[in-house]
Amino acid sequence: MRVLSVVGNRPQFIKSGPLSAALAARAVDEVVVHTGQHYDPELSQVFFDELGLGEPAYRLEAGSGSHAEQTARMLPGLEGALLAEEPGCVLVYGDTNSTLAGALVAVKLGVPIAHVEAGLRSFDRTMPEEWNRILVDRVSTLLLCPTEVAVRNLAAEGITEGVHVVGDVMLDANVRLATHARERSAALERAGVEPGRYLLLTLHREANVRPDALARIARALNALAEPVVFPAHPRTAAALAYGGIELGPHVRVLPPAGYLDFAALASQARAVLTDSGGVQKEAYWYGVPCVTLRTSTEWVETVETGWNRLTGDDPARIAEAVAQAGPGESHPPLYGDGHASDRIADLLCTMTRQ
Ligand code: UD1
Ligand code: UDP
Repeated sequence: MRVLSVVGNRPQFIKSGPLSAALAARAVDEVVVHTGQHYDPELSQVFFDELGLGEPAYRLEAGSGSHAEQTARMLPGLEGALLAEEPGCVLVYGDTNSTLAGALVAVKLGVPIAHVEAGLRSFDRTMPEEWNRILVDRVSTLLLCPTEVAVRNLAAEGITEGVHVVGDVMLDANVRLATHARERSAALERAGVEPGRYLLLTLHREANVRPDALARIARALNALAEPVVFPAHPRTAAALAYGGIELGPHVRVLPPAGYLDFAALASQARAVLTDSGGVQKEAYWYGVPCVTLRTSTEWVETVETGWNRLTGDDPARIAEAVAQAGPGESHPPLYGDGHASDRIADLLCTMTRQ
């Protein structure tokens, strides 16, 4: 039984860890293709090293570019891998261009697709990720949803077959690794901050690295009275430099962190500021309030429970949300029980046997 997994971005490496282990435990032959969308060691190799991921069988080196160019560069290599490996299904994660490329090639070759994180919608169609979600869900055979909200989103688009609620594989990784991170990481000392007395920031969305939006966010950050630890995505670091946008000395700009250092920083922050999808959930799991620098989120439960505030890039809203950031009214378990990978692996076994 063979599954071909497509990964290419930081969060996909993280999500693939627990699922690869669950597949191996069931003697499923997993062939991993790394599209090369993320290639800098701190966005890619560090996760293979830290999380003990196996060496991908294929490395496509698609690299950066416009959405169409980047996606297109992945297609021939993916097609070659599928033709050579003849998998029973293709596994894709999330909502990136690598996810779309994997699904496109699989559908063209008539190979069933299993989509991890199916059914998520921000309902903001200006986001490139929203189209990737819609298109990939439309052609998937197995739709692996983290929540009932995701199931309802799919039903609203007429997709009801092959839909399963499995929980969130990112929680599986979190449960396994995050508790050790606090003990093992010296990231707080290195950043010169104390537990509960700093903010943690991540920023990489296309809309937020445009010069005008980035300047507004920088204005908001410069007005904050607390230390801000900012492991910066290279895209954002480049946009800050290109725009000549200065951040105050209380904003400590660092290279992107590894998973364990990031977990240590996120779990001990007073609050997290982010435009990431995954980081919103992780903040919730840590019981750390979150301020999301977007006007929409696909992780609506974090907002509904009062732990997450949406601000967009408006400095006044950011200031208010940071000042008010505190625990929500309740903290129900969200996004599963840490065993999503086992459920997904079981479903894949059923699918590839048919
Ligand atoms: C991509 C995903 C986004 C996901 C994120 C995870 C899409 C459309 N976007 O965004 O959904 O949340 O990954 O982190 O698929 N760059 C480097 N080194 C690298 C990779 C990128 O310097 O290793 C720089 C390049 O200048 C590149 C820019 O970052 O043009 C953007 O990279 P890209 O992969 O296109 O998008 P992300 O912002 O990383
Ligand atoms: N992350 C990390 N180092 C960082 C920033 C984020 O390890 O410097 C991890 C974070 O813990 C989470 C994942 O990367 O598990 C989120 O990925 P990202 O924000 O790049 O993408 P998104 O979730 O928005 O697609």
